[in-house]
Amino acid sequence: MLRRLHHAQPESFEFTPANLAWAQAQMTKFPVGRQASAIIPLLFRAQEQEGWLSRPAIEYVADMLGMPYIRALEVATFYFMFQLAPVGSVAHIQICGTTSCMICGSEDLIKVCKEKISPQPFGLSADGKFSWEEVECLGACANAPMAQIGKDYYEDLSEESLAKLIDDMAAGGQPRPGSQTGRFSSEPATGLTSLSASAGEMEKYNGSVDPAVTVGDVVKKIDGSEVALRAPWQMSGQYPAIGIMGAGQRPMSAVQQAAAKAAPAPKAANNTAEAPQAAEPVAAEAEGKKPEGLAAPRDGKADDLKKIEGIGPVLEERLNEWGIFHYDQIAAWGADEVAYADNNVPRFKGRCSRDKWVAQAKIIVSEGLEAFLERAKTNDY
Ligand code: FES
Repeated sequence: MLRRLHHAQPESFEFTPANLAWAQAQMTKFPVGRQASAIIPLLFRAQEQEGWLSRPAIEYVADMLGMPYIRALEVATFYFMFQLAPVGSVAHIQICGTTSCMICGSEDLIKVCKEKISPQPFGLSADGKFSWEEVECLGACANAPMAQIGKDYYEDLSEESLAKLIDDMAAGGQPRPGSQTGRFSSEPATGLTSLSASAGEMEKYNGSVDPAVTVGDVVKKIDGSEVALRAPWQMSGQYPAIGIMGAGQRPMSAVQQAAAKAAPAPKAANNTAEAPQAAEPVAAEAEGKKPEGLAAPRDGKADDLKKIEGIGPVLEERLNEWGIFHYDQIAAWGADEVAYADNNVPRFKGRCSRDKWVAQAKIIVSEGLEAFLERAKTNDY
């Protein structure tokens, strides 16, 4: 498959402070001068933060790691876990269609995706929340058929269980990854046939399901503040503060310098595996100013705010509670109102500026809804 950067790109990218601290911690896993080895986790975190991987994000990560842009681009375009174009805002579902999964029913799963999401791969569902594609073997053949969603595997799927997963996610749920038929890992579907005495001592979830359940970062954009920074060695003094390359390496770029400057102040050394979050608490962003609302929609008829990309039923309800019913109200927002909207929509923090609600609303007001919807097909706003 030809993998190219999307034609419409955002102007810039930067990690949230918490994700930046997390990224710096990943870089300490490698010897000084070998920070480029952290390219995949950093690109993936950028994708988790934004929903997809843009050119500014790839270049930002390359700058952090002191790599030429082309090297980072090579990685991003090679692995299909990196989405180079906007995908479903909640989940992009990657169905394995290779031999084991095909024999065990992947075609039925694709049928579900076609019915519930879009007839074509990479097409968005009507609400913009989902997209899908067929991929090659993901290495969980013993639990076929399966799908990857974000960084998680959903295994032993059936038409019914996949449809239910999609419905749960659409409703804001975070379904548990792993086997959907109750298998712990890849033991026989009929139960253990050997070492069965140890079954009672097993953990509740296997090593990949447990972190997903514990951390709870399944299918959502993450700003990093909810993820523990597990890099206690960063505090040990064994490694230098990150963003600083060894002798003979490229000098720090502007992004690296900013990263080094923003690096969390070291705390007391702590070498336990369960080191607390190393980053200082992220300062609360400016709360902004609550947008002025109306007591009721004009003429008793509210606009369909869900036409604005990034606003779904939940956010529309919240906006209506604030007295926001019309496109022109959002189009008139300034930085303070945007900051308020960014900070006061639980689970959707930062969505207003990230999804450019104001820019979209302005187009609707000035050019009309039809013209906007045409432009929205190519994210032209
Ligand atoms: S064939 Fe589907 S995971 Fe290997």
